Amino acid sequence: MLVLVTGGTGFIGSHTCVELLNSGYEVIILDNLVNSKREVVDRIAQITGKRPLFYEADATDETAVDLIFSTHPIDGVIHFAGLKAVGESVQMPLAYYKNNLLSTIVLMENCVKYGVQRFVFSSSATVYGENQVPFVETMELRPRTNPYGETKAMCERILTDAASIHPELSVSLLRYFNPVGAHESGLIGEAPQGIPNNLMPYITQVAKGILPELQVFGNDYPTPDGTGVRDYIHVVDLAEGHLAALEQVGPGVHIYNLGTGRGTSVLELISAFEEANSIRIPYRIVGRRPGDVAECYADVSKAHAELGWTAKRGVYEMCRDAWRFEKNQG
Ligand code: WQD
Repeated sequence: MLVLVTGGTGFIGSHTCVELLNSGYEVIILDNLVNSKREVVDRIAQITGKRPLFYEADATDETAVDLIFSTHPIDGVIHFAGLKAVGESVQMPLAYYKNNLLSTIVLMENCVKYGVQRFVFSSSATVYGENQVPFVETMELRPRTNPYGETKAMCERILTDAASIHPELSVSLLRYFNPVGAHESGLIGEAPQGIPNNLMPYITQVAKGILPELQVFGNDYPTPDGTGVRDYIHVVDLAEGHLAALEQVGPGVHIYNLGTGRGTSVLELISAFEEANSIRIPYRIVGRRPGDVAECYADVSKAHAELGWTAKRGVYEMCRDAWRFEKNQG
């Protein structure tokens, strides 16, 4: 089975390509390298012993995407490519709407044109917004007031409407919680460019001495220790969830939370990282970050019941694997 992975040199995309190749799939990567490096293709080949085909192209480029579909007998698409920084999306809304929506439309148009029936979409827990935790797939969407979350909710709508008039389509909408960690080889992982927005890469850069200390954004939330609670999921568990969706999902639209179902606070993650890696993380409590919610974690019963998938890796393993990758960065 040949799978087109857009954003396949990115953090979650690269880990999914490894799992696909190790499971016997053939993989084509389409990536514009705006937030990743070409050498990730070499790392994927090094880990799996198989080299995916790579096209440096933009998923919004209709000509480039049509060429790939007309050249290769694609059986399925996993669409990761997209802009994904919440804060940046507030500053650049048009870029986010254009890139995230147009890429999804172009890919789905080609799936319909070339008879590709399986489409897995990288969505986000951000679409739940101010709902009550644990988040359930049937909840009304209230994407937090940031364009990034809105683009994910709109893409889900676009794909749902496309599937309603193309009953042969099998569409999976996978809502990620907080992906962290790295492949056990330490060869691929989360390598944000510039100062990290997300907690775990910020912690690993503090551990490495690149950054002086971690700022903890608020300890006055209504949570056990006052700091933000999130559902951190190992990126390899997340990758395995994509294979489960690709293989199990039949015609129609199927929505799944991909999380652990457990909440971990900022201070708990810091402690876990320190204990797992015997290293101290200096931090300072500062004010809340605008747009943050107190708690975000998943009800994961649907993915378990329908896909036979659950996350297997705990927070310690996430911390050990994230640190191993950071140390390997040279
Ligand atoms: C986690 C917790 C922060 C950094 C975002 C997107 C989401 C998804 C994952 C794309 C929060 C706290 C963080 C720091 C801190 N991305 N924190 N100091 O905001 O839950 O989710 O990334 O799909 O869509 O919204 O992740 O890692 O930024 O924050 O105290 O330097 O860590 O307040 O409680 P978040 P995060």
